[in-house]
Amino acid sequence: MHTPLAGTQSGPATDPALDAWRQMNPKQQPSWAGTPEHARVLSELGTLPPLVFAGEVDVLKSRLAAAARGEAFLLQGGDCAETFSAATADRIQARVKTILQMAVVLTYGAQMPVIKMGRMAGQFAKPRSSDVETRGDVTLPAFRGDIVNGYDFTPESRAHNPQRMITAYNTSASTLNLIRAFTQGGFADLRSVHSWNQGFMANPAYHEYEQLAGEIDRAVHFMEACGADFEALKRAEFYAAHEALLLDYERALTRTDSRTGLPYDTSGHFLWIGERTRELDGAHVDFLSKVKNPIGVKLGPTTTGQDAIDLINKLDPEREPGRLTFITRMGAGKIREALPPIVQAVRDTGAQVVWVTDPMHGNTITSKNGYKTRRFEDVLDEVRGFFEVHRSLGTVPGGLHVEMTGDDVAECLGGSDPVVEEQFDSLYETVVDPRLNHAQSLELAFLVAEGLARR
Ligand code: TRP
Ligand code: MN
Repeated sequence: MHTPLAGTQSGPATDPALDAWRQMNPKQQPSWAGTPEHARVLSELGTLPPLVFAGEVDVLKSRLAAAARGEAFLLQGGDCAETFSAATADRIQARVKTILQMAVVLTYGAQMPVIKMGRMAGQFAKPRSSDVETRGDVTLPAFRGDIVNGYDFTPESRAHNPQRMITAYNTSASTLNLIRAFTQGGFADLRSVHSWNQGFMANPAYHEYEQLAGEIDRAVHFMEACGADFEALKRAEFYAAHEALLLDYERALTRTDSRTGLPYDTSGHFLWIGERTRELDGAHVDFLSKVKNPIGVKLGPTTTGQDAIDLINKLDPEREPGRLTFITRMGAGKIREALPPIVQAVRDTGAQVVWVTDPMHGNTITSKNGYKTRRFEDVLDEVRGFFEVHRSLGTVPGGLHVEMTGDDVAECLGGSDPVVEEQFDSLYETVVDPRLNHAQSLELAFLVAEGLARR
């Protein structure tokens, strides 16, 4: 995040079009609207400084335009749901570190710039299929993410509390502050990131990747031997992304860019619309159609080609390069049938979107001992299917979106140094979906890098 273009956003944007969503019966919203507390929090949010700057958002859009053309690759990674309590220096650092480690491997495999993006600094709101959760004979509101209510199963904790939006803002600000320090202040130096990967490779379980790791090592040493020591090696751009679910939070952080007079949602650089809230005439699509940020839409296996075209026309009518990313989450068993008609329909309109695979959400199962989990094999198979489909259609596989953490948790099964069900009782931490742990994330990067090299 180099910030020379940081336009100042003076106050909440006032264009009435930014409020049209209010009449559209937005799905998945908390039940706090209309309370005095809610109004007070929103007006406070409206006076707080932007978390990201319009100039950065524009740079990101140009990077994504390159990804759509096949000249860059997007890596999005982070928690299913961030939590306030896990926003500690150590854990944020571990996640940034893992994403950077993956990025080095992918940069080498793709021989292209990798756009590094965290599901971080704002990923606090979760859509739920049921409004309530029942345990035994107690029924309480479902957990909707730390920005709405608490995970503890008590009436106090599960009550929807608007004050949490302020905590979410503050937690996002301190998370972003650390990310900026880590990625601009020397920590992200390519050579140190590479040396961390050498540590990973020391585990014999990963001998399969020795050749690729060896090639990267030789490339780094070659640069060093030549005395190459340019600024670009020392820093990395890093962007923040989250699902724009809670519309009055997003609206309050939407500001007019003083350079251009245009509205930017300054809660994060990149915002996506979930599979559950992407209806064409729905509130989420309407709101995000009116801000200038690059936008993602999650597409599941029931999406038709026409759905995708309609979304393009609504969210990217000007066909602006880098504006729109489709994140497909089909499931390993479905991607080879479900993805081609969508990609084909979009290709035939001539529209350029970034195609990203989310190999996590279509592959969720329940383990024998009752945990929500995913098999590393299925994740990998969906990624393979994604590359196969794009190769056969002559389109561009533009990125990877994963739920991961930098910690050594046990939530997803398998990998070369396999996680097994027996570990869940002690090492399963996630409050929502299972994440790849540090080693599984890196292993996936090596496997994707091999796929990119063969593209
Ligand atoms: N600045 C370059 C980039 O972001 C090279 C680089 C520096 C890098 N540190 C990195 C690449 C860490 C990947 C990971 O691509
Ligand atoms: Mn999830």
